Amino acid sequence: MPATVLVGAQWGDEGKGRIADWLATESDVVARYGGGDNAGHTVYVGQQVFKLHTIPSGILRGQVMCVLGNGMVVNPVNLVKEMDQLQALGVTITPERLLFSTRAHLITPAHIALDAASEKARGAQAIGTTLRGIGPAYLDKTGRKGIRAGDMANIEEFADALHQSIREANEVLARQDMATLDADAAVAPYIEAAARLQPFLADTAVYLNQRLQEGARVLCEGAQGTLLDVDHGSYPFVTSSSPTAGGALTGLGIGPGRIDRVVGAAKSFSTRVGAGPMPTELTDALGDRLRGTGEHFWDEYGTTTGRPRRCGWLDAVMLRYAVLINGCTELVLTKLDILSGFEELKLAVAYRVDGKLLDYPPTTNAELERAEPVYETLSGWQEDISGARRGGDLPAAARRYIQRIAEVCGTPVHTVSVGPERDQLVQL
Ligand code: IMP
Repeated sequence: MPATVLVGAQWGDEGKGRIADWLATESDVVARYGGGDNAGHTVYVGQQVFKLHTIPSGILRGQVMCVLGNGMVVNPVNLVKEMDQLQALGVTITPERLLFSTRAHLITPAHIALDAASEKARGAQAIGTTLRGIGPAYLDKTGRKGIRAGDMANIEEFADALHQSIREANEVLARQDMATLDADAAVAPYIEAAARLQPFLADTAVYLNQRLQEGARVLCEGAQGTLLDVDHGSYPFVTSSSPTAGGALTGLGIGPGRIDRVVGAAKSFSTRVGAGPMPTELTDALGDRLRGTGEHFWDEYGTTTGRPRRCGWLDAVMLRYAVLINGCTELVLTKLDILSGFEELKLAVAYRVDGKLLDYPPTTNAELERAEPVYETLSGWQEDISGARRGGDLPAAARRYIQRIAEVCGTPVHTVSVGPERDQLVQL
């Protein structure tokens, strides 16, 4: 049975958690392929709100096996905390439900401290990272001196490796006049976490391929988004991994022939956290209206950091690019309900850069900063659409907005979400 990839088609925060939760209903295995606890996936079930950072949202569907793939960087202490929080909410977490790749890299206290040091050193050029240690962990991975999950098997050697990484980090921190780490205090919770995580460790690439061979349906769950991809995003204002569909192959160890569906998740408007160009950003009252006041958990404030997100009109130039890079076979639009009540909606369909019209984003940030969106204006709708479940339940203007996005991006939209609850999905 082939696999589906779910990928963020914007700058992350597209609502992938709830879409993964929905796609999990037709999956046997949900496997995360990249990033770490910089991600924040919110799933709303009845009166409970689950905030997941490392564990795939498939864990909330009892029949699904969850996998933390080799492409991830995992903070073992935070993973154990997340497991405990889920268990306290009644979710069973055993090796029959969750496997952790021995090849995944670990985020250490040194990485977290070095993330802060690197941001400080950049000054005005700071990326606005989530400060979870993601960049330094991937740096050690590609520099071939990372610590992998499988290294937790030998506790003594694991502790030595952690001490060594902290010694090296402390030298950097001291040079930058930043507080150094107390190695013993920092290492102790890692040793505890290592013992807890032993039973979950496995060669997940072999596991996934065996399951695919047997006919299991696998959902490859992406984190972050296409425009934060280290290759395809607005470098250097990106994360350090490959959230795009290609990352699913290397991040899980499966071949391209396994994939037959690539679902791009996109919010019905644009948001971004952290620095970097965002051509359709609205810094006025309209942007504030899209963001919300922060009183609802679905308002535009980071799940991981609580930072207000930058908001703007839907940028279909970026979306068209995401469809191209990922080979999306369909798009899912989330949060369409938030657009109810706007008189008119704008959709960026091209950029004008130095007098030239562009269908795809330019590759340099300098050009992207100069890009002027070319907008189409569409009629808004006033109706509350949160109760819609079929295409026919949506006002004509909402259907036209969806149809235009599909036309401009060159891929169909089969599903939209109209509220945070599991069943607030419209199939078109
Ligand atoms: P890092 O991944 O913490 O290194 O952050 C790099 C950039 O990616 C920053 O702009 C972050 O705000 C952004 N970022 C990382 N993870 C997410 C996410 O899950 N959603 C949205 N933005 C993210």
